[in-house]
Amino acid sequence: MQAARSGLVREIYLAGIGGHTPPLPTDLTALEDAARAVLAPTAYGYAAGNAGTGATGRANREAFDQWRLLPRMLQGAARRDLTVSLFGQRLSAPVLLAPVAAQTVVHPEGELASVRGALDVEVPFVLSTGASHTLEEVAATADAGGADRATDSIPRWFQLYWPADRAVAESLVRRAEAKGYTALVLTVDAPSFGYRPADLDHGYLPFLNGAGIANFTSDPAFRSGLPAGADGPAVTAHWAQVFANPTLNWEDLPWLRGLTSLPLLLKGILHPDDARRALDLGADGVIVSNHGGRQLDGSVAALDALPSVRAAVGQSVPVLFDSGVRTGSDIVKALALGADAILYGRPYLYGLALRGREGVAHVLRCLLAELDLTLALTGCRSVGELAQGVLAPPGPLPVTFQAPCTEPKTR
Ligand code: FNR
Ligand code: LAC
Repeated sequence: MQAARSGLVREIYLAGIGGHTPPLPTDLTALEDAARAVLAPTAYGYAAGNAGTGATGRANREAFDQWRLLPRMLQGAARRDLTVSLFGQRLSAPVLLAPVAAQTVVHPEGELASVRGALDVEVPFVLSTGASHTLEEVAATADAGGADRATDSIPRWFQLYWPADRAVAESLVRRAEAKGYTALVLTVDAPSFGYRPADLDHGYLPFLNGAGIANFTSDPAFRSGLPAGADGPAVTAHWAQVFANPTLNWEDLPWLRGLTSLPLLLKGILHPDDARRALDLGADGVIVSNHGGRQLDGSVAALDALPSVRAAVGQSVPVLFDSGVRTGSDIVKALALGADAILYGRPYLYGLALRGREGVAHVLRCLLAELDLTLALTGCRSVGELAQGVLAPPGPLPVTFQAPCTEPKTR
């Protein structure tokens, strides 16, 4: 049994008596600026950059701000249960590391450090197809366990960018199966990269500079499309031909469904009809996401799409969520609006940039401490009981809530 996640707060105050303060900011919204100060402009631009005017990224945050929590008092919620179950796998909290490509751009140890940090805190991770380390290296790192060596059973999932060559797609899936990845996340909102001014202004894409292509360069099916001994520009050119698959469409989905019995989730779903169609074609769950605003400028906020997707698929289908989650309070809001769990994105990347494994672990510890405290302060004993009743829109509450105070007074 996990010690209460909010125990971190006590630890920090006690350490403070001895003059020690946390290694990084505990305000998880402050990490972006801290990371900016240490990263090369190209790396920061790739990590933080959004599509076009950045309107989608702003909308993601505004959507969270448009909801307020409505706490209930005297609930006796002294201990909170953060665990959730997905596809028969137990998660110690409703949080997974989002797939984030090319992590060596922000730290030399890249995904290996992120995975170690996640394991230290018992948080599962979703590995990107565009990782800078092979899925085999990452699996071996995960199998070595976290700092306490007791965390080697944390689920790991693989995010698939379905390449233009089906042989490469199949090979990636088989490799993920062989290395113990227990679910497949097919990202469907990136038929091509979005129009990203930060990267364009720098003329910079990590993959063309050798980061984020390890799962391809190590892949026999990918390599079989290359002349023997090809390296450097020839490999990159072949990657550019294979990586993006703009022709991908719903008719392709049964092929992937038939290929694997792993639970299959579609990531990047915003429209309820797309969610229903994904399930009709055999998907086991969906991830409501707009890629953190990196793809389509002017898109609907992911949080605003969440309730209609949940309504469309019903209560029993796993619905995960990302895009704009920063704090424990945000997680409570997303769960109350229909998510079973969230994927945490940029903040852990900033933690990685600032302090490698320790930075990732710090960020996750803070997030889970804040989640635990948010439950306590709203009067909830478990994440499973979160429902819309814990939320209110901004502004005065409906008058019906005031009824007890408007009874005629007897003097
Ligand atoms: C991503 N994201 C992403 N998604 C995916 O399915 N495959 C990938 O390879 C990547 N790569 C990637 C790189 C970087 C630098 C970022 C910031 C994001 C999207 C990611 O999984 C998630 O949807 C967003 O990060 C959520 O938005 P926020 O909360 O991080 O702003
Ligand atoms: C990105 C891709 C790789 O957002 O998903 O950069």
